[in-house]
Amino acid sequence: MSGNMQRVVVLPGTGIGPEVTTQAVRIAEWFATKRGLPISLSHPPAGPSAYASLGTPMPDSTLEALRTSDAILYGAAGGPEIDAMPKQAQEEGGLRRLRREFQMFANLRPVAAHPSMLDASTLKREVIEGVDMIIVRELAGGIYFGEPRGIEILPDGRKRGVNTQVYTSDEVERVARVAFELARGRSGQLTSVDKANVMECGVMWREEVERLHKAEFADIKLNHLYVDNAAMQLVRDPRQFDVVVTDNIFGDILSDCAAMITGSLGMLPSASLSAPDADGRRRALFEPVHGSAPDIAGCGIANPIGAILSFGLALRHILGTAADAMLLDRAVADALDRVRTADIMQAGRERVSTAGMGDAVVAALDRLNGS
Ligand code: NAD
Ligand code: IPM
Ligand code: MN
Repeated sequence: MSGNMQRVVVLPGTGIGPEVTTQAVRIAEWFATKRGLPISLSHPPAGPSAYASLGTPMPDSTLEALRTSDAILYGAAGGPEIDAMPKQAQEEGGLRRLRREFQMFANLRPVAAHPSMLDASTLKREVIEGVDMIIVRELAGGIYFGEPRGIEILPDGRKRGVNTQVYTSDEVERVARVAFELARGRSGQLTSVDKANVMECGVMWREEVERLHKAEFADIKLNHLYVDNAAMQLVRDPRQFDVVVTDNIFGDILSDCAAMITGSLGMLPSASLSAPDADGRRRALFEPVHGSAPDIAGCGIANPIGAILSFGLALRHILGTAADAMLLDRAVADALDRVRTADIMQAGRERVSTAGMGDAVVAALDRLNGS
């Protein structure tokens, strides 16, 4: 392999993961073939099939390939195949493990209302028109990892379930810094979301964001919202937001809610980034925000745009140039003007399968590229 080749490792996951990832891989291959993008794709064993054949859902060789990759394209986790594995194997092969082990703490979830999609949303067109925001979700800490956790049986036979919301000030600072920097490159406005009226962790979160604001980002307009109000504001008037930074669990919930601004959860992409290491390289994972959607898995109807736009984020942040990423954004817009998967279907549009949407994006890329 040429030394300049960037290594892209593909982990399709389960449920609709493989269906949507196939389309994202087609787009990656298009960029490699038609635009000379220097990437090599690999598909190491992982997940339930690796567990069945190799006894582990995350062989050491796969973990090493991920560790030394430039970008990971991930499909989706969860569903009956995962539930059938023992708990320990589920954790070994799980997404949470990768996020934590590679310290991919900055999860970027951009939300934009595409002009031709305004009537595909359940929200009114006049509410969502022009929305262009990004949720920065802390991804390597908080209640997802806090100790103690578990379920214990009390002496009287009742059960007690415990999880712990915990952050240290450096964990807040590093994700807030990413958000402030993003805001500086956009409209200069940041909203920090917490639950400081109830949780000490939220009080500390707010204090750290304030401290960093005063010390380094006084040019940014900062406001704070409690998470319950933020959820309401997201559907009342989402245009008020530019960059939003929040913790792991609040970001999980608010981003699925914000997805409806785009018309469907199937539209939303994400990038999960670590800090640069000594060589300036980041661990970086790109995946749609949705899960394995067991209710539609195997039907060939899943919307692959979230997966395709996740590759777009890989182009923008790691693999390519802003021009590459913009080309893909334009191709997706063009495809959505013409065809729709079931979840975003509207009268007067042609309904297509998952692969049909991939075809439409590839055709649009060819048209825009003149190839
Ligand atoms: P989900 O995101 O899988 O599905 C929620 C709803 O949205 C379903 O009705 C589904 O059909 C629909 N949907 C999701 N993606 C779609 C797409 N691309 N096109 C059309 N419709 C789509 O959430 P869930 O049902 O709560 O969870 C299912 C499994 O996925 C669980 O095991 C959960 O833990 C897991 N999950 C994984 C991820 C991830 O891999 N990052 C994210 C969320 C959920
Ligand atoms: C997401 C998912 C995951 C999360 C699950 C699968 C662990 O919902 O990426 O949004 O809760 O972080
Ligand atoms: Mn989620």
